[in-house]
Amino acid sequence: MKQALTVPKIKAMKQAGKPIAMLTAYDFPSAKLAEEAGVDIILVGDSLGNVVLGYDTTVPVTLEDMIYHTRSVVRGAPGTMIVTDMPFATYRLGPEETLRNAARLLREGGAHAVKMEGGADLAEEIRRLTAAGIPVIGHLGLTPQSVHTIGGYKVQGKDRHEAEKLLDDAKALEQAGVFGIVLELVTEPLAAAVTKSVGVPTIGIGAGRGCDGQVLVYHDLIRYGSGIRDKRFVKTYADVGETIRQAISAYVNDVKTLGFPEEKHGFPLDEASAKEMALASRLYGGENP
Ligand code: KIV
Repeated sequence: MKQALTVPKIKAMKQAGKPIAMLTAYDFPSAKLAEEAGVDIILVGDSLGNVVLGYDTTVPVTLEDMIYHTRSVVRGAPGTMIVTDMPFATYRLGPEETLRNAARLLREGGAHAVKMEGGADLAEEIRRLTAAGIPVIGHLGLTPQSVHTIGGYKVQGKDRHEAEKLLDDAKALEQAGVFGIVLELVTEPLAAAVTKSVGVPTIGIGAGRGCDGQVLVYHDLIRYGSGIRDKRFVKTYADVGETIRQAISAYVNDVKTLGFPEEKHGFPLDEASAKEMALASRLYGGENP
């Protein structure tokens, strides 16, 4: 069986200049396909709030949701590193509460590592987790859990002050002990500068070509779902949503026009068995034996 990559191996990929392919997955079949396709890291992202649970933001996603989805992902991809998002506010009540919550994602969910959105302000929490043996990935730039503060899903780090803060945050995360940093919706030059200035891999989404790896949301990559928005930073590799829609509408049409089921989809009963079951008259219109 394939072996999941370890934290030292992921860090070594940056030194070796080997790009890291990360993808989100939220359930058994998506995880299984991601593993079969060779992704390096599966992220059980709290984006599941948007693409699986139908919320407008990731804010309503709970720790229980993340544990539940992580479990099924782990069953689908036993040979892949699984990183699970700590949901909104579950790492903002101090290092001890953060450790308690992160430990549940590993112990009950089966994740190998957790991801948290934020910068230098999370240093204490990150130190507490790494000291307890819980690897952490940081997340800078557009941090969707703070959408109400940021005021929308906008590109970050566009002025000097913001760019310098992001660079300082990346260094602080590295010092605190993260083994990777997701950079979301950050200008390409800033993401490249951050990538050069830290020793841990950066994994970009909407952050251009200069990162050590890339991550996309599963449903965006294959256009799975209804009302998937076109996003500039997403490359769509298949239109699975349209394929599914067409398949379901063909099924509905078949049922309504008696095109399904056909004879081959049924299970016949031979006459002898039918007689033995004393069903012959009712089934075949014959006489009871
Ligand atoms: O929740 C998520 O899917 C994420 C990715 C967008 C990086 O955090």
